[in-house]
Amino acid sequence: MPLPRRAFLAGGLGGLALSPVVRGVGRRPDDEAAWADVSAAWDPTPGQLNLESGGVQAPTRAVDEAFLRTWDAARRLPPVHLLREQLPRLEEVRSALAAAAGFPAEEVALVRNTTEALQNVLLGWPLARGERVLTSTQDYWRLQEGLDQRVERDGIGIDRIRLPVPLPPDGEVVARWLGAVRPQTRLALVCEVVNLTGQVLPVAALTAALQARGVAVVVDGAHGFAHLDSSPADLGADAYGTSLHKWLGAPFGTGFLRLRRDRVAGVWPLFPSAARRRDDIRKFESLGTIAAAPFLGILPALDWWRRVGPSAKLARLRFLRDHWLAAVADDPRVRRLTRVEDNGAGAIATLSLPGRDPRPVAEELRRGEGILVRAIVHPEFSGLRVTPNLHNSVADLDRFVAALRRCLHD
Ligand SMILES: Cc1ncc(COP(=O)(O)O)c(C=O)c1O
Repeated sequence: MPLPRRAFLAGGLGGLALSPVVRGVGRRPDDEAAWADVSAAWDPTPGQLNLESGGVQAPTRAVDEAFLRTWDAARRLPPVHLLREQLPRLEEVRSALAAAAGFPAEEVALVRNTTEALQNVLLGWPLARGERVLTSTQDYWRLQEGLDQRVERDGIGIDRIRLPVPLPPDGEVVARWLGAVRPQTRLALVCEVVNLTGQVLPVAALTAALQARGVAVVVDGAHGFAHLDSSPADLGADAYGTSLHKWLGAPFGTGFLRLRRDRVAGVWPLFPSAARRRDDIRKFESLGTIAAAPFLGILPALDWWRRVGPSAKLARLRFLRDHWLAAVADDPRVRRLTRVEDNGAGAIATLSLPGRDPRPVAEELRRGEGILVRAIVHPEFSGLRVTPNLHNSVADLDRFVAALRRCLHD
């Protein structure tokens, strides 16, 4: 289900005036002139073409300025501005974020990133020796390390399925996961958007099928939230974690964990919290003193996303992706690893370069052309990951394709 507009308003962005809708909402994805006012929200980076929004993203100038103002006030008089004024406003951030994502506020913890959100869950989920976690070989490496630590520490088992690239049809993907469920499987870690290829997994169907087999589902939404236009609440997962410095464009070091109400009490937080907070989602926020400025910067970032429109954003990103993919489609030196048909991907797509190591190609693009893309090297495949964002234009992608052709020329 697309994110409802009222979801943003219901959360209230208290204190932050809701800005008028930016010119041209409803703009067509291919209308370069109409998207120019959106890309102008970022500071230009002369000489650098950033097609690496698949990692951390550049915040818009407005988010940056809001962050710096808050930071500046806090540093001048921390007891007043940080402790008395800013940190209490994090409740407002929780409500706005929860409303935008479609979750109840009491299920949303503010954390620094997906890693913090999901290590809390993976390390704190009650699992006895011999019980098992199901995941894939394409799930994020840091989270895999969390699970590996539990193998050593607690004697749990892990099953990792392999997913073909490009991804087969959804029904086959679900069947692969279900085929790996064992009687001891208690938990599954599933990626909403695989960072290596940009592939969007059929998470809602997968979650329902796994839960029906008695397996709780933890979704890695690092690249889902504010990229896809569906509500993460529709995935039906037991837990969901995301980073807001990715697709929402919030300040660095912001994310959220959503844990279903009936799961909160059963999961140990990584940082201890009083027993009286066992049932309180805030137990995952027991870090001690933190800066409020990054988290308060979530409010203008949410406002910006609302004004652009989640569906308009995704349509534009897919248009940019399809533009560059079409330009290389007939080139025998590349092969697309991302299934883009049937809404199988958003902005991110990866090209394999048969017979070549993508790392020197990415390096040449960076050094020789000032173009940033990511070389992906995984035990099962390798390629160049290209991730346009709303600050990119068709001209940027044409420049990239021309540069790639030069780099691949033997
Ligand atoms: C799929 C996926 N999961 C988790 C993460 C971790 O995100 P963070 O470093 O913001 O915690 C990333 C980071 O790129 C990712 O791509």
